[in-house]
Amino acid sequence: MADALDRDHEAMPASTQTFIETLISRMTLREKIGQLNQINASEPDAATLYADEVRCGGITAIINQVDRTVIDALQKVAVEESRLGIPLLVGRDVIHGFETIAPLPIGQASSWNPDLVEACAERAALDAGRSGVNWTFAPMVDICRDPRWGRVAECLGEDPYLAGQLGAAMVRGFQGQDVSDPGRIAACAKHFVGYGASEGGRDYNTTNIPENELRNIFLPPFKACLDAGVASIMTSFGDFDGVPATGNEYLLDQILRQEWGFDGVVVSDWDAIHQLCVHGITETDCDAAEMSARAGVDVDMVSRSYSDHLETLIESGKVSLEQVDGMVARILGLKVALGLFNDPYRRVGEETTSSRNRGLDLVKQAAIESVVLLKNDERQLPLTTSKLNSLAVIGPMADAPMDQLGTWVFDADVSRSITPLRALRDRAGDNVKIRHVEALDTTRSRDTRAFGDAVAAAAASDAVLLFLGEEAILSGEAHCRADISLPGAQEDLVRAVRAAGKPLIGIIMAGRPLTLEPVLDDLDAVLYAWHPGSMAGPALADLIFGDAVPSAKLPVTFPKMVGQIPIYYNQKNTGRPATDESVCLIDDIAVGAEQTSFGMTAFHLDAGHKPLFPFGFGLSYTNFEYSDLNLSRDVIGRQDCLDISVSLTNSGQVDATEIVQLYIRDRVGSVTRPVRELKKFTRIKIAAGQSRTVKFQLTENDLAFTRRDRSFGAEPGRFDLWVGGDSASGLEAQFALREDVTT
Ligand code: GLC
Repeated sequence: MADALDRDHEAMPASTQTFIETLISRMTLREKIGQLNQINASEPDAATLYADEVRCGGITAIINQVDRTVIDALQKVAVEESRLGIPLLVGRDVIHGFETIAPLPIGQASSWNPDLVEACAERAALDAGRSGVNWTFAPMVDICRDPRWGRVAECLGEDPYLAGQLGAAMVRGFQGQDVSDPGRIAACAKHFVGYGASEGGRDYNTTNIPENELRNIFLPPFKACLDAGVASIMTSFGDFDGVPATGNEYLLDQILRQEWGFDGVVVSDWDAIHQLCVHGITETDCDAAEMSARAGVDVDMVSRSYSDHLETLIESGKVSLEQVDGMVARILGLKVALGLFNDPYRRVGEETTSSRNRGLDLVKQAAIESVVLLKNDERQLPLTTSKLNSLAVIGPMADAPMDQLGTWVFDADVSRSITPLRALRDRAGDNVKIRHVEALDTTRSRDTRAFGDAVAAAAASDAVLLFLGEEAILSGEAHCRADISLPGAQEDLVRAVRAAGKPLIGIIMAGRPLTLEPVLDDLDAVLYAWHPGSMAGPALADLIFGDAVPSAKLPVTFPKMVGQIPIYYNQKNTGRPATDESVCLIDDIAVGAEQTSFGMTAFHLDAGHKPLFPFGFGLSYTNFEYSDLNLSRDVIGRQDCLDISVSLTNSGQVDATEIVQLYIRDRVGSVTRPVRELKKFTRIKIAAGQSRTVKFQLTENDLAFTRRDRSFGAEPGRFDLWVGGDSASGLEAQFALREDVTT
């Protein structure tokens, strides 16, 4: 049977459709409503608690149960004891791993490696499937421009194209070619839509997103996931321009169903249907159920609003039976696609030692490719063991096996974590003396009493590795920060250890960009590791000692200070764009300066107009030099393909990988256009001293956007184009798209 999720090529196969229509025709109204009801079954005795409700067909899905015996017991009731034997969906947030943890999604996004991201999702699906899970609530493809928001940790960055490419890769990894494979699980793109624009970086907060931003920034990653065949989409908690997404017909029906033709399952976020009353868009829970059902939410995640009120709503005609049948059909379609009617228990073989080690090797590679080298003065890195007799390993994140995993790791096996301290000790052996001082017992601690020991360890050692950042709990859902500097007394720790005068390398583990400017000058080198997962230690040891070379690039902009937020690379030019020349910093203003409004441009007196580190930035242990940017034409028609090539030389001493990025700027549009837009990227490994030619192609579709009249397409005119290693540099060229040019 063709994959029922394969929407690009055909509607659901007739045999499946017939099966579903026949089944629906046999269902009572209560059984139909039961197919819309997902419950939290996290209790150890869930098999007892919910058996009766499952038996009478009142539950379609459970969430947060990963005990295989409990899951199988409830599935057995559903399949063998309920009247129609409809199996259960088993949901779990498998965000970046199950027992074995890969880097945070924002860390994986730093790899700009869709194949790697896909492999990590595939591994997570296998491990989760072994526990009986068949539905995950990932990828999260919310575009985020505000690192105060705790969930920036689980996003795929600030750029729609990068997030779309990587989100689609996760969908492929979770679902594979046939999601009925027991080693695969159904994916869920979330949170539709605009959750990342929560005002003030405060979780669950209001979002006000104008149509132009909605269409050109926030929707594209979801469309990429839909085009990749994502099985389900989750609604956002957020108030979307006054109508919360979970009851927003424009989003869930007009865009998702009418425009995009999505025929998968729409699931609410946790209790989000009931929360429509809290938002104040509905008076009663019954009204909330009506609003969500009419908008297009198929599955009610744990609020029970559907099971409580839909029967009344249908009997009163406020919600049509036809609408409900459509909701039920989509859910049954997902269960058919998962193969649950034929194989409800979906057995995956036990994890073997070799399988487990393959998983650990994979997440180690993912960690290596996720760590961004932000600074490396005088090439302090990599360290060479031959020149080292001793190493000071200092800080609260050096030996934090749970915190290095990051947020959303409910099922992590922390015994699999190898911390930096352990990995460095393993590597140093008897050759290099390791002096370890935690200095602060948590990243939030302000107790500086151990600083003396830290300074002494640094003074007595040849170099210092300072492991700082955020504990895992300081990011993630509902864990937002108004001040995103290093928490606690960590900045003081940097300054204290700096005084020892030894080479000082900062390794930062955090779930968000941090405002590092206060300590950046005191650090000779900085590796930004996000939360790297189970194999943080071995990955960082390889990078620190040069067995691996950093290749990662930032998927988000790093602000100098929190007051710059929102600051992102694909901003609009404005009528008064800031330039290096136009910026006037607070210290440059003469006392008694005359007031004027002439020549003023868009910047902050105390921060200027540039971020600390731009989107796409990341250093290497080598130098990459770009030259000979060449375009096949300087004018193209709508049917033409523009061939772009550039020469890239690794002029350093080590083989290394560069992530080559191609940006455009549409100079004039029917709506204002970003000063840069990422359109292509590729990873290329080049041997030391070698050069390679890197090629890209652009077509009209790459230049397309949602225009002022809401149509989608490219507009004739002039374009700038850059190819380089980040969003603030690169070789530049120009071309034009013209209507009157035909190939
Ligand atoms: C949470 C999150 C959502 C998650 C769901 C189930 O509140 O917003 O991303 O999938 O509930 O845990």
